[in-house]
Amino acid sequence: MKVLLKEDLKALDKKHFLHPTTSIEQQQVQGPAAIFTEGKGIYLKDMEGKTYIDGMSSLWNVNIGHGREEIAEVAKEQMMKLAFSSCFSTFSNEPAILLATKIASLAPGDLNTVFFTSGGSESNDTAIKLARHYWILKGQPERQKIISRTHSYHGVAMGATNATGLQAFRDFTNSPAPDFHYVYKDSPQDLREAIEALGPEKVAAFISEPVQGAGGVNIPPEDYFKEVRAICDEYGILFIADEVITGFGRTGKFFGMEHFGVNPDMMSFAKGVSSGYAQLGGVIISEKIHQDFCKLSKGTLMHGYTYSGHALACRVGLKNIEIIEREGLVENAQKMGHAMLDGFSRLQQKYSFIGHIRTFGLLGAIELVESREAGEMFETPLSPIFVQETMKRGLILRTVTYDQDTVVFSPPLIITSTELEEMLRILDETCAYLQENYIEKKEINL
Ligand SMILES: Cc1ncc(COP(=O)(O)O)c(C=O)c1O
Repeated sequence: MKVLLKEDLKALDKKHFLHPTTSIEQQQVQGPAAIFTEGKGIYLKDMEGKTYIDGMSSLWNVNIGHGREEIAEVAKEQMMKLAFSSCFSTFSNEPAILLATKIASLAPGDLNTVFFTSGGSESNDTAIKLARHYWILKGQPERQKIISRTHSYHGVAMGATNATGLQAFRDFTNSPAPDFHYVYKDSPQDLREAIEALGPEKVAAFISEPVQGAGGVNIPPEDYFKEVRAICDEYGILFIADEVITGFGRTGKFFGMEHFGVNPDMMSFAKGVSSGYAQLGGVIISEKIHQDFCKLSKGTLMHGYTYSGHALACRVGLKNIEIIEREGLVENAQKMGHAMLDGFSRLQQKYSFIGHIRTFGLLGAIELVESREAGEMFETPLSPIFVQETMKRGLILRTVTYDQDTVVFSPPLIITSTELEEMLRILDETCAYLQENYIEKKEINL
């Protein structure tokens, strides 16, 4: 590859690269904030040689950390042997069969059969379509409505966008799809009322993340999912868990729903299944749904992606899960999650602008408030400045400014106590800087 200077790359980036989920204005003014060239463990390096802690596992996905040679080795071996072959028309390949079997052994309840995709959005579109198709097969073709929660994020494919509760994603185009409905995130009663209002015989499925990620690391009330499961059972509605972020160890259990003691009918997954080393996702369906498909389906299942069951991606997924198990990363996520919460509460004691703090395994959030007692937010959100300042100090984080002013965390599951302390030290330094330069001067507008 030709070696280019940073300024040349910046110019090419501005002209030729339309970035996903990015402010075009900001990109056109500043160019890329960082051009990453290397990753090792929890760290990323940019082309100027500056090192950052990847406090978000990039996009909540690089669970086993960067630069794993053994993944590269199996990927090379698989690519030399068979990178790809079709899984349509009953064709199959060994990595896809083995990965489906492995995932079935890890998934709770009777979730036993896997449909593969290339990522989370495709997984949620698949879950929605499988649910709707299921009801056609079951002789209830009216059941096509999908209910999701406010503050939820399910991706950007057509179905996934329409299921997403964060309105801004749906407002991106002017053509909302029919048969999508939203209920307040923490209220089982709201779900019940929505089902009654829509007509239970018209509702196909309810979809929810166990803990909402992009909506602000929102942890549901303790019994929320038990009540939701009971309501879905009462009205015969399918319950889809979106485990795209929470799957594969992130929360301190293999799947997030395990914390709540309920089994969904389908689970969508992506991200942590391959830790970003290959584009991979899927949906796990229950034994019951699978049996019904086997009994009732005639002709072809008219849903499939070219890359469903991609041999190389599935081989990478298998190795990734082997690493998660061998290194005890699920347990580490739980342990480090507790340590992260301790660290957050030390910061909370020191800085009055830190409001509600929460962790769930290695998912975390710090809310920023003008007044903790009144729970009042700043007029202009402080979190964008907060993450700019941590970035300068070598820590990459993200913000949530919809309905809250929050900094969110999702570090790799391999993080050690020493690395966590380093992350907390940067947070402390950033808070001290903000205290002096913004809070005391009461100047948040940049
Ligand atoms: C909970 C959840 N579902 C679905 C998606 C969409 O996944 P992808 O971006 O791989 O399409 C995401 C992505 O962040 C997510 O957080």
